[in-house]
Order: sequence, then structure tokens, then C-alpha cells
Amino acid sequence: MNPSEIDQNKAHFLALSRQYISRPGLEDLLASLDKTDFFTAPSSSAYHLNEPGGLCQHSLGVFHTALTVYHSIVHPAIERGTSPFTKAVSDESIAIVSLFHDLCKAGIYRDVEKWKKDDSGRWQSYRGYKVVDDFPFGHGEKSVLHVSHYLQLTSSEMLAIRWHMGMFDVGESGSPSRYALYAALAKSPLVCVLQVADQLVANCLEKTNEV
Ligand SMILES: [Fe+2]
Ligand SMILES: [Fe+2]
Repeated sequence: MNPSEIDQNKAHFLALSRQYISRPGLEDLLASLDKTDFFTAPSSSAYHLNEPGGLCQHSLGVFHTALTVYHSIVHPAIERGTSPFTKAVSDESIAIVSLFHDLCKAGIYRDVEKWKKDDSGRWQSYRGYKVVDDFPFGHGEKSVLHVSHYLQLTSSEMLAIRWHMGMFDVGESGSPSRYALYAALAKSPLVCVLQVADQLVANCLEKTNEV
């Protein structure tokens, strides 16, 4: 992404935040992002949107997708009475959890020189990213912590951000985490909507830059 695309995405991110979120603390939360590399960081070190500005772009993609998934699939089912959930989710909640779900990624990607072999077997260097997490508090957990410094989150919003990686975040931690994830999914449709939107965007809408 070039600098002007990064600036446009930042302006879009700020405008959407202010349009959809009216909760006290929003301006301080947005100001806190400027103290990090959130708007210029990649979305991953070697996978989806591994390029400058990828993290903001990914967050915007998750927001638009979560809103579409909720309003086209989940909300109609709640209205019809065919969903296990009876309470609608607000667009403000969708905006909060999707725009800020990956704040944990701010400040962890370092631009480094990497090496690979070219077609004739000679080593050549290229610019890439490596992860250096100075506060390894957990992926969703760290995002919840950051947002909670500024916004008073509902329990559904906390659970959605905490569990947005779904089963990928359970791994070795085994049964207790798995049961907690299932229980979180049963608490609010927001949990599943964010998981689905995140996976959909990362796997079907975002490219990896081959190096
Ligand atoms: Fe994430
Ligand atoms: Fe994400």
C-alpha cells in the first residue's frame, strides 16, 4: 500500500469510528492509536496483507463484512424467531469489535532483512517482518485490554474480541479453553459474527504478498 492509500484508509477508519460509535472515550482511544503503528503496520508477518497499512485495511474489511453478515443472515433469523438468540446486536457493538479486534497487533511487527534462495540457488535478501511482542498477554486478550482502557465494553463485546480467533486460539490449552469458547459462542451472536468475518476477510478477500 502506498502512503496515500494508507492515509485514505486512516481517514476512513476514523470517520467510520465516529459515525458508528458514540461511546465516551472514543476520541482518547483513537488518539492512542496514533501513538502506535496501527495505521502503517502490516496485518500479518507473512500471510494476509503482509504490507504497510495492512492492519488498518484488514480492520476495515472485517467491519464491512461483519455488518453485512449480521444484517443479511443473523438479524433476519433473530427477527423470524429461528435463531437461538432473541436480542439484536447494535451496529455500534459491531463497529467496536471489528474495528478494534486486532489492536494487539500494533507494535509487534519489525521490519527486518530476510534471506531466501533464488531460482539458481543463490541466497538473496529481501525485506520482511518478524514478530517481537514485548507484552505477550494473548491475542484477543490484549486487544480487550487496550480498548477497555478507553471504552466501557459490554460483556458480549469483550467475549467477541477475546475469542475472535475461535478454535485457532484454543490449541494446546485444551478442554477448559474449548468449553469457554463454546460458552462464549452461546452468549451472543456477536462472538460468531466477528469470528466469521475475520476468517472470511483474511482467507478470501486479502492477498499475501509473495517475496
Ligand atoms: Fe486477530
Ligand atoms: Fe483479524
